Amino acid sequence: MKKLTFYAIAAILLSVCFICFRQYKVKISPTVKSHVEPAHHRKMVPYFKDVPDMTLTVRMSSNVASLLNFFYCTMLRSLALYWSGQLGPLGLILDKESQDDHKFAENLQQYQEHLGMNISIHYEPLPKNERVLTVAKSKPPGYNRQLYSSFIMDEFISTPIVAWMDTDGKFTTPVTRDNILNGNKLRVKGMNTFQNNWVQGWDKLGKKMIGKPMPSDFMTFFPVYIWRDTITNCRNYILKYVNVSTIEEAYIQVGSQDVGVMSPVNIIMTYAYYFEKERYDWHIDIRNVDLQKYNKLHLIPGHELTSPDLTPDFHVTLHDKYYKDDNNIVNRQAYCAAVNNTVLNMEHNIKQMCEPFKTNEMWLLFEFCNKVKQEHLTTWCKNKNKHCSSMIQEHYDKTRQLVNKGVYNLDLKKVKMVEEAAKFHNVKCQPFL
Ligand SMILES: *[C@@H]1O[C@H](CO)[C@@H](O)[C@H](O)[C@H]1NC(C)=O
Ligand SMILES: *[C@@H]1O[C@H](CO)[C@@H](O)[C@H](O)[C@H]1NC(C)=O
Ligand SMILES: *[C@@H]1O[C@H](CO)[C@@H](O)[C@H](O)[C@H]1NC(C)=O
Repeated sequence: MKKLTFYAIAAILLSVCFICFRQYKVKISPTVKSHVEPAHHRKMVPYFKDVPDMTLTVRMSSNVASLLNFFYCTMLRSLALYWSGQLGPLGLILDKESQDDHKFAENLQQYQEHLGMNISIHYEPLPKNERVLTVAKSKPPGYNRQLYSSFIMDEFISTPIVAWMDTDGKFTTPVTRDNILNGNKLRVKGMNTFQNNWVQGWDKLGKKMIGKPMPSDFMTFFPVYIWRDTITNCRNYILKYVNVSTIEEAYIQVGSQDVGVMSPVNIIMTYAYYFEKERYDWHIDIRNVDLQKYNKLHLIPGHELTSPDLTPDFHVTLHDKYYKDDNNIVNRQAYCAAVNNTVLNMEHNIKQMCEPFKTNEMWLLFEFCNKVKQEHLTTWCKNKNKHCSSMIQEHYDKTRQLVNKGVYNLDLKKVKMVEEAAKFHNVKCQPFL
């Protein structure tokens, strides 16, 4: 009897302590939350501990309506869900002289906390020589400026990795460490798209900038992860090769030779291939072409692609402008795959939405565009083979862990916040799901 009483009292005391502790925690937690964490705490989650800092870098201009639409509705909504602020901030390079860009940035930065992501703003002054703006005659000044700007991203972005992306890229899955790095090498994807005349133009202009042929098309995936100093090294090399003293001069001199439009990121990655190959992890889909034949056509002796350079890899984004998705299947499929089998409690309507996708495998990850065909389903993943299938499965095993640890919360409120932010520019997005 005495014993029972003792236990009862002990139990009551324990619960009181527990309640007190909870109260105490509730009391202190707001101050803990508002307390600004020092930068070195940023990567507390072990999963990203050894990942170098990076900036998800986008060259934007708020003066082009179609860019604004892609920026908010496509890029930022998907980014908010599938890019972890712990990997690094979103970095926007804007036009310094544009008052509109300053307002755009101000509006956006109000949403950082809601998006769980820092947004760093960098203002790029107008090129000194305004001929830069008319180099590619078929393109408007803003487009030319944006192209040229890729050669000097390292002057604005200070993190060791620049994760470069177009305004119209759409994330289709949470990003894991392994999507970015293999060991300590940055992943690169490439594809044989040389049948397209614009790619032939890129190749020709690239040769005039660095004297080397493109080993593949590197505009077939986002983000393009680039060591920041590769950009610096590439630019210095161009100056020597073109024999000019500024990158503006090189861009004008080479770009105005009427053979096409330049692709600076292709030039940077081509430079990386020839001069810094060991710092990157290459995944080139030469499609169904014989390797020897491909090397003869596109590479130079001593720099041939070898079979380890051809190993399959998948996408974490697609190129929305060139991806036809009239019934908005992509976002639903992607979201359902991301929440699948996680600890997250889905609302009834989401569960219902995901029902038809229950047995769906994310082959979407092997596609990038479908208006122009850029996919691996007829090459690496022919017949939806086991190898590719297990890559999908392994990837989702990893994203599930990240979701369960809270690195990704897949909170659709963040999508709503982006839609709020977009209202500032009268941009109205189609429903996300
Ligand atoms: C944003 O930046 C602040 C200040 O540098 C930092 O304390 C905070 O942890 C960052 N937030 C994220 C989500 O990285
Ligand atoms: C590079 O340019 C300088 C001055 O513009 C010229 O004197 C020099 O001969 C050029 N070098 C080459 C290798 O063309
Ligand atoms: C959900 O996860 C299970 C187990 O990993 C898998 O078999 C199934 O294909 C997944 N469904 C979707 C929609 O990804």
